Amino acid sequence: MTDAAANRYDSQNIKMMELVYGKGYLSAGGDEEVARIVSAVTIEGNDVLDIGCGLGGAAVTLVRDHRARHVHGLDIDSRVIERAVELVEAAGVAEQVTLTQFGGGVLPYADDSFEVVYVTATTCHLEDLAGFFRESCRVLRAGGWIVGGEWFKAADNAAFKRWDSLLRQQGLNFHFVSRQQFETALSSNGFEPGSAIDRTQATSELTHGYLRRVETDLREELLTTLGAEGLDSFLAWTRSRYDALANGGMYYGHFRARKLAI
Ligand SMILES: C[S@@+](CC[C@H](N)C(=O)[O-])C[C@H]1O[C@@H](n2cnc3c(N)ncnc32)[C@H](O)[C@@H]1O
Repeated sequence: MTDAAANRYDSQNIKMMELVYGKGYLSAGGDEEVARIVSAVTIEGNDVLDIGCGLGGAAVTLVRDHRARHVHGLDIDSRVIERAVELVEAAGVAEQVTLTQFGGGVLPYADDSFEVVYVTATTCHLEDLAGFFRESCRVLRAGGWIVGGEWFKAADNAAFKRWDSLLRQQGLNFHFVSRQQFETALSSNGFEPGSAIDRTQATSELTHGYLRRVETDLREELLTTLGAEGLDSFLAWTRSRYDALANGGMYYGHFRARKLAI
């Protein structure tokens, strides 16, 4: 992982994403999506590492609703870590959640530290996916799982190109790979990929719902937060992503893979 300045969301991005996605989240679906992602692994009583933990929504639900023993959240961005600390304290789970800013690269944990690595909407920021999986594998205990949700490139079509170029205009540096490339990187770096779940249709519907809310009940608040230009840019961004999902340019899916026994 690299600590590229281009990987940081600006504070407007963060505000509007949380307003749309819900408290604690910078990705779609909230607590329910986390529940779907972890449904096939055991969280209760286990140590979980949440990489790219963002505003802390997943860390809170993993402890509160799924009874993780402890969640360690890492994020490259100190501002989101500060917000995550506030959320975790307000939720009364601070003793079971440790949040740390880190600059990418080697994970700051000993080998065999966790049963589960959770990572959502974050690997698409990474230049070195193989290195990320090697590190994740190293910190997992034997038989541990990596689980998450991610955006994948489905086709290099016009809808994908529009979405990708809008992200770059916003200073966000994404490295989308295909589902196949992702699974190959997993299996080449110590994991046995399990079943993949296609969430494209569901995410497309969620995005459509978010768009409607941005155009109606969230409009005034977003106008105050972002101004007219910011709101237009956010609408263009959300429509473009919807378009990429609906027109076969992007794929959103859940993944899980088990650390191979050596
Ligand atoms: C789309 S947000 C998702 C956050 C959270 N997982 C969620 O679902 O709400 C991506 C997060 O990854 C973080 N990030 C980007 N590059 C990173 C890296 N190299 N290492 C760790 N976190 C990173 C960003 O700061 C941001 O908080």
